[in-house]
Amino acid sequence: MKHKEIIGKELNFTQHYREMWPFVKPYWIRALLAILICIPVGALDSVIALALKPYMDNVLVDKSATSPAYIPVLIVAFTTVQGFLNYAATYLNTWVGTKINHDLKRALFKKLMSFDSSFYDQNASGYIIQRFTTDADTACTGLLDNLKLFVSRFFSSLSLIAVLIYNSWQLAIIAVVVLLCALMPLSQVRRRIKGIIKNTIEESSTILTHYNECYAGSKTIASYNLQEKMYLKFHDILRALFKLTMKMVKKTGWMTPLMHVVVSVGVGGVIGYGSYLIVNGQITSGNFVSFITALIMLYTPIKGIGKNFNNVQVSFLAIERIVEILESTPAIKDTPAAKELTEIKKGISFENVDFSYSPESKVLKNISLNIKAGTTIALVGNSGGGKTTIVNLLPRFYDVERGRICIDGVNIRDYSLKSLRNNIAVVFQDNFLFSGTIRENILLGNENASEEEIHKALQMAYLEDFVNAQENGLDTDIGERGSSLSGGQRQRLAIARAILKNAPIVILDEATSALDNKSEAVVQKAIENLMKDRTVFIIAHRLSTIQNADMIAVLNNGEIVETGAHEQLMSKTDGAYKALYNAQFKKAA
Ligand SMILES: Nc1ncnc2c1ncn2[C@@H]1O[C@H](COP(=O)(O)OP(=O)(O)OP(=O)(O)O)[C@@H](O)[C@H]1O
Ligand SMILES: [Mg+2]
Repeated sequence: MKHKEIIGKELNFTQHYREMWPFVKPYWIRALLAILICIPVGALDSVIALALKPYMDNVLVDKSATSPAYIPVLIVAFTTVQGFLNYAATYLNTWVGTKINHDLKRALFKKLMSFDSSFYDQNASGYIIQRFTTDADTACTGLLDNLKLFVSRFFSSLSLIAVLIYNSWQLAIIAVVVLLCALMPLSQVRRRIKGIIKNTIEESSTILTHYNECYAGSKTIASYNLQEKMYLKFHDILRALFKLTMKMVKKTGWMTPLMHVVVSVGVGGVIGYGSYLIVNGQITSGNFVSFITALIMLYTPIKGIGKNFNNVQVSFLAIERIVEILESTPAIKDTPAAKELTEIKKGISFENVDFSYSPESKVLKNISLNIKAGTTIALVGNSGGGKTTIVNLLPRFYDVERGRICIDGVNIRDYSLKSLRNNIAVVFQDNFLFSGTIRENILLGNENASEEEIHKALQMAYLEDFVNAQENGLDTDIGERGSSLSGGQRQRLAIARAILKNAPIVILDEATSALDNKSEAVVQKAIENLMKDRTVFIIAHRLSTIQNADMIAVLNNGEIVETGAHEQLMSKTDGAYKALYNAQFKKAA
C-alpha cells in the first residue's frame, strides 16, 4: 500500500487523545501530574494583578502604608513557588514526553519492519524517514508540550478573568465577550492548514530522499558532473518549500494581528466605560488599575492559546498520519493457522503463476515448474525476463497474482513467514551488507555459528586469504553498505553469509558474476558442495556455471519457453537454450 494519501477523516480532540492513550497509559500518573502542576502555574499569574487593588487603594489613594506591607513579600513568594512548580512541570513533561516519543517510534519501527517489499518499492526513503520519525516528534510535542502550555494558559486566563469579575463584573462582561470574538478565527485553523501540511511533508521528504541519493550516488554524480544539476534540484525543492511556508503564513498569519485589533477594541471600550464607572463611584481606582493589569496580563495567555492552537492542530494531523500507519496491515503476513515449515521432503512447485509489480504490465505469465527436493534448477534468459522476480516469489517478498507456489504440496501462504524464510538462503543479485565488521555481517546468516563454522564458510566462499590479510581479520570494519570492499569481495561475503545459514533451499542470483575466473572456479566448487542435498535455484548469464543443473528453464519475457537438462536442450535443433549457448560460446571463442 502506498502511504501518499492521508485519509481525510475529521478526527476530534477526544478521539486523538483516545488513539494516543495506549502510548500515554504506562505513564499516565506522571503525565497527569505534569498537567495538574500547570494549573497553579497558570493560576498564580493572577496573584500579582489581584494584589494591585489593595496596594493601589491603600497606598496610592489613601496613602496609608500600614496594611499592605505584606504585598511585596507575597509577590516574591508567589513567584518563587511558581518558578519551582514550573521547573517540576518541565522536568515531568520532558520525562513523559520522551518516553512516549520513544515508545511511539518503537511501535512505528516495528511496523516498518513488517511491511513487504512493495511498500519499500513505492515509498521513497525520505518519505519514510519523514513519516516514521519526524511525525512522531511532531505528534509528541503537540501532545504534551502544547497540552502543558495550553492548560497553564487556560487556567491563567480563567484566574485572570476571575480577577476581572472581582473588580467589576460590568467591565468583565465587555472584556470576556471581546475575547471570545478574538478567539473565533481559531476554528478555521485546521481546515486551512491541512492541505499545506500534507504538501510540506511531501516536499521535505523529497529533500531527505535527495540527500540520500546524493550520498549513495556520489561517484555517479562526480563522473557525470551532475553537481550543478543536483544543486538545482535541491534549489527547486527549497523554492517549493518556501512557497508552502509563505502560504501557511498567508493562511494563518493574519489571525494573531486580527486578534490584537479585536482585543484593542475591547481595551478601548473598557477604558471608556471604566472611566465612567469611576466617576460615578461604582468602582475604586484600585479596582480599575487591577482590572486593566489583569486584562493586559490576560492578553499574553490568550495570544499564546492562539499560537498553541495552531501547533496542537499540526500535531493532531501528525497523530492522524501515525495512526494511519499503525492501523494499516502489511499485505504479506501470516494466516491465522499458519504452519511451520521444518523440512522439504518432496519439492517445490510453481503452478500457473502470474505476477506483475504494477497493473500495467505482466512480468510473469503462466509459470509452471516442478522442482524435486534436493535438485538444482537453473533459470536463464534475457535480461529483464523475470528470473529474479521468480525467485523473489518463493520467500514471499511479493505474493503471486494468480496461481500458487507450493512446498511439499502446501501453499507457501499457509506457512509462517518466519519458518518459510528460515528455510531459504538467498545470495542476491545486488547484495546488501550492513555497516559493521566482516564477522558481524557473516553472523547475520546464523548468529550462533561457532568460530570453526565461520572459518569453514569463509574458506568455501574463497574469502579466507582476504580476511587473513586484514590487520583486524574478521573484525575489520567494512563501512556503510560494505563500501570499503570490492564488488567481488562483497559478493563472496554474501555467499559466506548464505553458507552459514545452512538452509535447505538456496537461491543464487548471479552469485558469482563479479568474480574472476580463478575465484569463480573455487567458489563454484564450494557452491556445488553447498548444493548437495539442497534444493537450489541458480540464475546465471554465464552458462558455463549452470551446465550441471538437473533442470534448466529458459525464460523469455516472463514466459518459460523451454525446460530440460543441458544435453537434452542442446540436442534440440532450434532450441532457445542452444541458441543462447552457441552465442556465448562463439563470443568466448
Ligand atoms: N521492484 C520492481 N518494481 C517494478 N518493476 C520491477 C521491479 N523489479 C523488476 N521489475 C521489472 O520486472 C521485469 C523483470 O525483472 P527481473 O529483475 O525479474 O529480470 P531478470 O530476468 O532478473 O533480469 P536480469 O537478468 O537483468 O537480472 C523487468 O521488466 C523489470 O523492469
Ligand atoms: Mg535479475
